This record gives sequence, structure tokens and C-alpha cells, in this order.
Amino acid sequence: MPTTPHRSDPTNPTASGVGHRMRAAVYERYGGPEVVRLADVPVPALGPGDLLVRAYASDVSVADHRLRARDLPRGMGALAGPVVGFRHPRRQVLGMEVAGVVAATGPRVTGFRPGDRVVAATGSGFGGHAELVRVPASGVVAHVPDALRLDQAVALVFGGLTAHKFLRRADVRPGVEVLVNGASGAVGTMVVQLAAASGARVTAVCSAPNADLVRSLGATDVVDHLTQDVTALGRRVDVVVDCVGTLPVARARRVLRRGGTLLLVVADLAGTVGTPFARLRGVRAVTGDLPTSAADLDELLRLAAEGAVRPVVDRTYAFEDVVEAHRYVDTGRKRGTVVLRIRAEEQS
Ligand SMILES: NC(=O)c1ccc[n+]([C@@H]2O[C@H](COP(=O)([O-])OP(=O)(O)OC[C@H]3O[C@@H](n4cnc5c(N)ncnc54)[C@H](OP(=O)(O)O)[C@@H]3O)[C@@H](O)[C@H]2O)c1
Repeated sequence: MPTTPHRSDPTNPTASGVGHRMRAAVYERYGGPEVVRLADVPVPALGPGDLLVRAYASDVSVADHRLRARDLPRGMGALAGPVVGFRHPRRQVLGMEVAGVVAATGPRVTGFRPGDRVVAATGSGFGGHAELVRVPASGVVAHVPDALRLDQAVALVFGGLTAHKFLRRADVRPGVEVLVNGASGAVGTMVVQLAAASGARVTAVCSAPNADLVRSLGATDVVDHLTQDVTALGRRVDVVVDCVGTLPVARARRVLRRGGTLLLVVADLAGTVGTPFARLRGVRAVTGDLPTSAADLDELLRLAAEGAVRPVVDRTYAFEDVVEAHRYVDTGRKRGTVVLRIRAEEQS
């Protein structure tokens, strides 16, 4: 049920009361990009501790692809069912990230006011592909520094938070060697930058056309997975970050030093269940849905505002072209992030 928000946006008189209906990209059945359509839906109910964010930008991520197409790593479908839905999607609006301006706040919200520029990760609640997005103020939400546009901020979130939460589970410091599989994607481009910023020597695995990109992000060595066997590097590394799913323990150990760390950003059920036993094979493996926080997001935004990391945006699609955005993400070959522009104008 829609509710009238508690405090409305004083900077926009037409938004008084925010309204009860909005446009959102919805999908009611699993399938190809064409199952997504723009629809007129109720504005989300605003709880006492929530923000209502007027969205300017979101992104279409691999998570959106996975849910829409029900393309989950082998064995994970049954586990994910209760959250994502079995026969039909439980959450009909995709989008795990949003950047925009606070339009209204619940009565218990402190630290955010209408008019604030914010970026948020909505997590398994999704809902980001909409004109108004409900975000718990206690969730993963942060103010966007003046140095960043909202579309830049949103492009940091999916890959940046994932890279950040996995990398902190390894001892990445000057002199450490890190191999990043899938280095040109949303997660990989952020792993490369954060590892390089920590002083690590980074070997990036991607296809040849993306070699210049990953070098520009701080990789010192590049391996083309289409022509080279990644596990036959001729040397061993301290940390492997697998953002593709092609370096499970059995393969990764061929390129890892004994006692090295394997960060499985993507793993199937067998890989996930087997993670604790990797130690028997001399590998410290980490996988799963690791926690992240508003403080992590703040740090990422600070690093970006200082120029220590940069969002990598492949393409930007207008909201009306959301189906095309899904189609492009489905290729599995995007470079960094695909941004969805929900509103044309940028908020100062
Ligand atoms: N555990 C978590 O919390 C978490 C969070 C976020 C994402 N994920 C998972 O992380 C994975 C990566 O997400 P993403 O957003 O980075 O994906 P993405 O942006 O679609 O990454 C695609 C990249 O993967 C590369 N690639 C494809 N096949 C490859 C291969 N065989 N070897 C090496 N690289 C290959 C491609 O590079 P080239 O075109 O250069 O080959 C492409 O740039 C997804 O499976 C996602 O579900 C997990």
C-alpha cells in the first residue's frame, strides 16, 4: 500500500507529497530481456526509518541478469528460491543500486534530509529500477561527495562493494601478487584498482581487447583467457580472485602459492560447500554473501572522490531502453558497469 511520505522534498514543489504512483521496470516471469517492461506502480511505502530516494541513476548488473533469467550458479537455485521466488519472481522490480536525491524521510531518520544526494545498495530488497526507491536509513546508504556525479557514484557500488568485501579477507599489501580472473567486468575492474592501490602486483585475466583498460586501472600483467591457460602462468601468486567461476580450488591451486588465498566471488553449490575443506589442499578459500556496510560505501566514495579509484562505465541507457540494457548485460562481455539513467537531468 502506498503511503504519503512524512517529509517531502522542499526543493521541488511539484513533488509535494511525492505522489502515489511511479514508473518502474517490472518483470513478472523469468525469461529473456523482453520480460522486462516499464509499468505504472505504487510508490513504495515509507517506514519510520526509511528514506524515499528520487532516482537519477541505477545500473543493470549481473545480479539483475541472474534473477531475471534464473541463471544461477549450479545448485544455487534451490537455495535462492525462498528469497528470489520459485515459479515467479518474488521481487518484481530489479536493481540493487540507486543514486539520487532524498525526496522524503520517515520520522525516525537522522543523518539524511530531503534534498541530500545519496547512493545506496538495496541488496536483496532490489527495487532500484524505479523512479522512487525505498532505502532503510540504517542500510548501505551514503552521501555522494560533490566531486562525483550521481551516475559515477552508482557505477561504483555493485563492483566496488563486492571487491572491497572480498579483498579485505586477504592480506593484500605492497609486494603481494594478486591474480584477478574476469578483470574487465564490474567486480574485476574494482578488484584491480583496489588491489593496485594497496600496492599489490596485479595480474589481470581478460580478453585481449580489454588489456589496455585493465592496465590503465593498475594491472602490471595481462593474461588473455582466450589464448592462454591461466593456471600455467609460470609463477605462483599469493591471492586469486575469481570473478568468473572458472577457477575453483582444484584449478586455482595450480597458480596459488601454498597457503595462498582464493577469493571465490562466484561459486557453485559444490564450490561453496567445499570451501572449508580447501585447507586440506593448501588453499585458504573464501566465498559467500559477505557482509558490507555504509562505512564501506563511504570509504569507496572517498577513494573515488580523491581519484584513487574510478568508476568504469561501459554504456549508459535511458530508462525507456531498459530492455536493451538487459540484452547487453546478457552478452557476459560488458566492461565495468552498465548505467541506467532513470531521470535525464543531474542534480547539483
Ligand atoms: N559473491 C558476491 O557477493 C557477488 C557480488 C557481486 C557479483 N558476484 C558475481 O561475480 C561475477 C562477476 O560479476 P561482474 O559484475 O563483474 O560480471 P561482468 O561485469 O559481466 O563481467 C564480465 C567479464 O567477465 C569476463 N569473462 C568472461 N568469461 C571469462 C573467462 N572465461 N575468463 C576470464 N574472464 C572472463 C569478461 O571479460 P572479457 O570480455 O575481457 O573476456 C567480462 O568483462 C558474477 O558471476 C556475479 O554473479 C558475486
